[in-house]
Amino acid sequence: MPKRIFSGVQPTANLHLGNYLGAIRNWVGLQHEYESFFCVVNLHAITAPQDPRELAARTRDVARIYLAAGVDPQVSTIFVQSDVHEHAELEWLLNGVTRLSELERMTQFKDKAKKQRENVLAGLLMYPVLMAADILLYQTDLVPVGHDQKQHIELTRDIAVRFNRDYGETFRLPEPFIPKVGAKIMSLDDPSKKMSKSDENPAGRIALLDDADTIRRKFKRAVTDSGTEIRFDESRPAITNLLSIYQLLTGKTAAEVEANFEGKGYAQLKSELTDATIEFMRPFQERFHSIGDEELTRILSDGRDRAREIARPIVREVMKRMGIAGA
Ligand code: AMP
Ligand code: TRP
Repeated sequence: MPKRIFSGVQPTANLHLGNYLGAIRNWVGLQHEYESFFCVVNLHAITAPQDPRELAARTRDVARIYLAAGVDPQVSTIFVQSDVHEHAELEWLLNGVTRLSELERMTQFKDKAKKQRENVLAGLLMYPVLMAADILLYQTDLVPVGHDQKQHIELTRDIAVRFNRDYGETFRLPEPFIPKVGAKIMSLDDPSKKMSKSDENPAGRIALLDDADTIRRKFKRAVTDSGTEIRFDESRPAITNLLSIYQLLTGKTAAEVEANFEGKGYAQLKSELTDATIEFMRPFQERFHSIGDEELTRILSDGRDRAREIARPIVREVMKRMGIAGA
């Protein structure tokens, strides 16, 4: 069987440079080495309240973002999670081998539950089981994601190991693929927090659809560290973050980046970083806007058909092994 990768992004508002540099960008390179599945995980989005009309529109926009970033529908399978019913089905089946204590231990659940307190939806707790279903459904070898998803992939492995032990060898065990640089892009206004979609203050993130003026303004206001030297240094998280973004967007090595900024000041760093970001954004956004509705619909329905072909027999196999009638 060819080696497979699977990944997804939730169609919640404000996709940002962190989502691109930490995840989507790596898919583009990997798609030629692996059989690839890139999913818009809209079922995950309803673990928090959503406006239905906006959610529907954003689901298509996230697929457009995949395409604009360079995911090639001739090579990769791009689809919407809810179009392949097997994701929800397998999630329920995997609930039969997942422990409540495992879900309660997930740091993402704990963090989000803390913020939403009284109104935490049950779906937020089950979220990692649906993610495990996404991954295991395609016998995935590698899952390219940012650092924050590592724990969910470890849980996916635990679930797969337990299923294989209790019901017989069924699932392949996936590995995370987490980039060395870019796995955790930090907020521009607080480098101790990751750049986040849900941060109320938009100043901390460069959204993938921000215009040039907004980008310029956000970098100009970005927090810096004390001192003047421009080099990668863990004890100076703000400058290190800006340098990482610059490095990834320009494709330079860390040494080349440091050499480039030797003897220059923070204003120069911000100005070159702004230019590099705009240079990436311009063609990216042009591609985003040029993808027609019909074309997108065709790509997503082709993707759905390809994904279902693989997902259906796996769910059937799982049901059979679990002794579920009708399998
Ligand atoms: P999410 O925004 O939670 O749907 O995440 C989509 C993808 O982007 C996942 O692979 C995340 O790990 C990745 N990601 C999210 N925020 C960041 C960030 N600040 N830096 C790097 N990767 C990120
Ligand atoms: N939980 C992931 C995130 O928020 C999104 C996601 C859902 C995912 N299912 C997945 C990522 C499967 C990789 C593989 O970023």
